[in-house]
Amino acid sequence: MTTTKTPVAVITGASSGIGAATSRALHERGYHVVLLARRTGRIDALAAELGDRATAISADVTDRTSLVSAAERVNSELGGADVLVNNAGVMLLGPFSSEQRDDYRQMIEVNLLGAITAAEVFLDQLKSSGNADIVNISSVAGRTARSGNGVYAATKWGINGWSEALRQELLPSVRVTLIEPGVVATELPTHITHADTNTAVNELYSHAQVSAGDIAEVIAFVITRPRHLAINEILLRPAGQA
Ligand SMILES: NC(=O)c1ccc[n+]([C@@H]2O[C@H](COP(=O)([O-])OP(=O)(O)OC[C@H]3O[C@@H](n4cnc5c(N)ncnc54)[C@H](OP(=O)(O)O)[C@@H]3O)[C@@H](O)[C@H]2O)c1
Repeated sequence: MTTTKTPVAVITGASSGIGAATSRALHERGYHVVLLARRTGRIDALAAELGDRATAISADVTDRTSLVSAAERVNSELGGADVLVNNAGVMLLGPFSSEQRDDYRQMIEVNLLGAITAAEVFLDQLKSSGNADIVNISSVAGRTARSGNGVYAATKWGINGWSEALRQELLPSVRVTLIEPGVVATELPTHITHADTNTAVNELYSHAQVSAGDIAEVIAFVITRPRHLAINEILLRPAGQA
């Protein structure tokens, strides 16, 4: 008798927002979900809520060593990853200024280098799966830059360029999909350090109509398409967003 391996989905930034919702949506569809984030209490609680087929592993995407040990556990305990959702991100908006320089470094290290590092660390597992997906969470800010979001937009434009090259390199055994949401109701803007920008963006987000669950459904749809179909890119905004 042959046994089929339960597909394994690794989600970075699974402790809140789009990552937590995606973990729920993929778990519902039969995946074993591996929840990565720094806030261990939150991912432990989500894994406990999901029950079977959920593993929480503390990992910081800016710390390659923590990603390598997460990947070793995924390989030894679950037989390797079939899906990687590169979702971890920070959006530290504000006028361009030296005072925000730590924010710039953090956004580049988490949003861009963090995604690149997670992909390179899990790459061998994804290639050996033969039926794998990498889903990179970009943003409308990866397509249109605005005053006050320059470095955030730079990280998302970077994700877009890298994703397209990766897509061509890894096809057909690893499909690469770029998801570019507009405003989604999550805690993302609460971390903005520039006081006036924090107030203005949180006011905008208090009217957000798209939920993290809406985006999670799109991600689940993308990776459950038949293998002969690759959805390369999805740009999605709230219906009322210009
Ligand atoms: N909400 C929106 O309007 C929107 C729109 C377009 C794109 N996005 C993108 O969607 C993604 C998810 O954001 P969200 O809206 O769901 O916000 P969120 O609720 O703030 O989630 C961000 C996640 O990233 C994780 N994270 C941050 N720094 C990390 C690090 N160094 N290592 C590991 N994980 C880290 C956080 O976990 P820990 O703090 O526990 O580590 C958290 O789980 C981001 O890439 C964001 O740019 C969001």
